[in-house]
Amino acid sequence: MISYCMQAGFFQFNTAFGRKQENLEKVRAATRDTSPDLLVLPEFFATGYQFISRDEVADLSEPVPKGETTEFLAGLSREKGIYIVAGLPERDGDIFFNSAVLTGPEGFLGRYRKTHLYFEENLFFAPGNTGFRVWDTKIGRIGIMVCFDWFFPESARTLALAGAEVIAHPSNLVMPHCPDAMVTRCLENRVFSATASA
Ligand code: ACM
Repeated sequence: MISYCMQAGFFQFNTAFGRKQENLEKVRAATRDTSPDLLVLPEFFATGYQFISRDEVADLSEPVPKGETTEFLAGLSREKGIYIVAGLPERDGDIFFNSAVLTGPEGFLGRYRKTHLYFEENLFFAPGNTGFRVWDTKIGRIGIMVCFDWFFPESARTLALAGAEVIAHPSNLVMPHCPDAMVTRCLENRVFSATASA
């Protein structure tokens, strides 16, 4: 169990589609006077969510960890001494994933590629191939799932069985039941979670 008090925060904002610099600056401004141990940002927080073509995805997706958004997050984590989990469209060669990265005071720590793609995400993104992952960090064991993963109880269960103490959950919620369902996921698995939705 977590043996001290972890301060987890989330930042939800109205992402400007395609205006990466503007969105990154919003995150920088929001964290100027606060340093939670763990900060969770929404799914596709820097690009916006609703892609309508593969060209848009190709234009806005980035390699991980050597892309602008991951480097920004790693820099912010180092600067503030905090852990961050945030969603972004990842490019791996000519394949795209709906991914989330974990950064910390040590820099880039890893990525999770969304397992359960939602609706039109299937047009542009490949189903994740990382499986559900947990990172043992100085502030506790952090597991990651992305948005629609909440619909499938196995997602949180798998993370809890892998030792997660906190589930970071970047999201762009579309269906209405997630906030209630996450309470149940936490109770049945004895974990905490932080969902951030744009
Ligand atoms: C979703 O998975 N963004 C609904």
